[in-house]
Amino acid sequence: MVFPEYRPRRMRQNDTFRAMIRETRLAPDQMIYPLFVMPGKGKREEIPSMPGVHRISVDQLGREAKECLDIGVRSVILFGLPEKKDPMGSGAHARDGIVQRAIRELKNSAPDLTVVTDVCLCEYTDHGHCGCLIGNEVDNDATLELLALTALSHARAGADMVAPSDMMDGRVGEIRAQLDENNFHMVPIMSYAVKYASAFYGPFRDAADCAPQFGDRRSYQMDPANSREALREATLDVDEGADILMVKPAVAYLDIISRLHDEFDLPIAAYHVSGEYAMIKAAAQNGWIDGDRVMAETLLSIKRAGADIIITYFAKDMARLLQNS
Ligand code: PBG
Repeated sequence: MVFPEYRPRRMRQNDTFRAMIRETRLAPDQMIYPLFVMPGKGKREEIPSMPGVHRISVDQLGREAKECLDIGVRSVILFGLPEKKDPMGSGAHARDGIVQRAIRELKNSAPDLTVVTDVCLCEYTDHGHCGCLIGNEVDNDATLELLALTALSHARAGADMVAPSDMMDGRVGEIRAQLDENNFHMVPIMSYAVKYASAFYGPFRDAADCAPQFGDRRSYQMDPANSREALREATLDVDEGADILMVKPAVAYLDIISRLHDEFDLPIAAYHVSGEYAMIKAAAQNGWIDGDRVMAETLLSIKRAGADIIITYFAKDMARLLQNS
């Protein structure tokens, strides 16, 4: 097949042909929208480094849920800003904690919405690390029980799926066992299986007030230089019972998404994180790029690399764009 017999431009000459041969499409029901839940009433605060994204109080969640469902976004993932923090992050598994209240509110006001929860301690510990400490080290094995209790408390409040993001070794197995013992064997685990120690989380740490007070997360999150290690991390989580494997961040790690997609037969999720969102928003606000087109192209690249599910602050914007095009 050589020119002039084969002309690639033939199938690009009009929109119908282009649509007919399109290999990848975005769909609102494959995007998960993150929500930051804060204490108080009637609160809706824009996060300065994430234009268009707000911290909202529990009473505002019904409205937010309706907005999502109306445009076809059927799932959210919850992050909480607790009233108070302590060394063990006990607010993470409190029966009346901020996320537990948020889940109950969403299940009441929007039963059709699927509620995923982020399972981690960093928003709840006063030192900002994702686990409890011995000295200045995060104690892996002691943290596992706290994470499992957190996942269980989310399930008890009505969460549809839990997503551990802490990067402790063995947490998927521990959470699976705890859920199963308590009759939550039908609650899936979307594991942040391959989570890199990334500067792209900067705006999120402002939003959720969870920056580590000393040191960094490099003793538990992955080194951005490594890709074969990603396969080992994913294998462990598969063996421990993960239902979905996540890669995070997304765009700087498209090669990792692609490798996981090829090597594993579980669904793949990718988290297009706060810094990735902020960069596009900032450039668009300056008039340097066409924000909508760059958003669509970026999310498409994540899908094309092999992600089935995309967690993104753009979920609502993208769903609206899809509706109007
Ligand atoms: C909690 C958590 C983080 C993100 C999701 N869950 C922050 C971190 O690990 O420091 C980042 C999400 C984003 O940047 O959008 N461990």
